[in-house]
Amino acid sequence: MIDPRPAGHALTLTGITRRYGSFTAVQDVSLSVGRGEFLTLLGPSGSGKTTILMMIAGFVVPSEGSIALDGRDITPLPPEKRDFGMVFQGYALFPHMTVAENVAFPLNVRGMGKAEREAKVKAALDLVQLDRFAHRKPSQLSGGQQQRVALARALVFDPALLLLDEPLSALDKKLRAELQEELKLLHRRIGRTFINVTHDQEEALSLSDSIAILNHGQLVQYGSPSTLYEAPRTRFVADFLGKSNFCAGVVREVGPGWCAIVAGSTRLIQALPEGERLPLGSSVLLSLRPEKIRLLNEGDEADNIVEGTVTAWSYLGSGFSLTLRTADLGEIRAVLPAWRAPFAPSEGMVLGLGWSADAAVPVLEDADG
Ligand SMILES: Nc1ncnc2c1ncn2[C@@H]1O[C@H](COP(=O)(O)OP(=O)(O)OP(=O)(O)O)[C@@H](O)[C@H]1O
Ligand SMILES: [Mg+2]
Repeated sequence: MIDPRPAGHALTLTGITRRYGSFTAVQDVSLSVGRGEFLTLLGPSGSGKTTILMMIAGFVVPSEGSIALDGRDITPLPPEKRDFGMVFQGYALFPHMTVAENVAFPLNVRGMGKAEREAKVKAALDLVQLDRFAHRKPSQLSGGQQQRVALARALVFDPALLLLDEPLSALDKKLRAELQEELKLLHRRIGRTFINVTHDQEEALSLSDSIAILNHGQLVQYGSPSTLYEAPRTRFVADFLGKSNFCAGVVREVGPGWCAIVAGSTRLIQALPEGERLPLGSSVLLSLRPEKIRLLNEGDEADNIVEGTVTAWSYLGSGFSLTLRTADLGEIRAVLPAWRAPFAPSEGMVLGLGWSADAAVPVLEDADG
């Protein structure tokens, strides 16, 4: 039986760097995952996600830095001594073995006796709801079922840590959503520490306790999903995790907890977090999420009011997405919930847009663009 009691383990990366010749794939990454947490590494292709996972698993040796499990340095340990469960992209099941034999494989390698082995395989297959398929071959399963076998195989030996490298990326959208839900339930049920790699931002937001955003091998921001979504530090983070509008302006007035930002003849009131000050005369970039914008009717009030001309729109089912041209802020995208219906947008329509002073956040322009 997979014992639900012992909590997962804590992992700390301190200043890990990996170089290949003169190329730096991962640069000075430090982060920690608490016991039983679900951490997601999120970033564009080539940002170093797999390399970090491979260093955690022990298949790739860091050029610099250290890795600790529950405070114990494991940097020099080979993969088999770390005993972490891993699921790679593309399932990689053994095609000639049945589902049960695939799942039993890590236990055979460890020389476990038959009775105990069979009990563990059954428990692992129960966990991913595939007990009925134990005697099938992988080729007789759907992609999602094969992926669940791979998960069962990674969990069967009760690993200290589960490392997942885009385990769901090969699946279609609907199946992926279902398995995301299952992965979340599985994580709750067994209380192990999971480290998941993805470039699916919705998956990262919905599954994780914390997210590490990577770009060009560097950790650009680390925090809870809501912190990263609500308070991105850079344009890259705001753009990569969700969609955002960016409004550029100059600070023309400052007060306690707010400032006024001017772009052309538009004046925006912007709330500032405790302790944050923007100097008078400085250039600022604001990130404004499309769903924080409201449509204003005649006489409606808002901290910020801007007029926009609809240049494109689409019906989303759950609402409308509108692209509007503004005089001073460029193109703005707004997402409006369907409950505002009846609403029939059309190109050329002029609409009043409003948002509150705390809807947008100032972000830094990324150094490398
Ligand atoms: N063995 C290697 N030799 C040389 N360069 C490598 C090696 N492994 C990875 N790299 C490079 O390191 C960078 C990071 O690769 P990595 O596989 O970690 O990216 P990733 O974030 O997992 O990308 P993806 O989303 O495409 O899987 C890439 O530029 C890659 O080409
Ligand atoms: Mg990868």
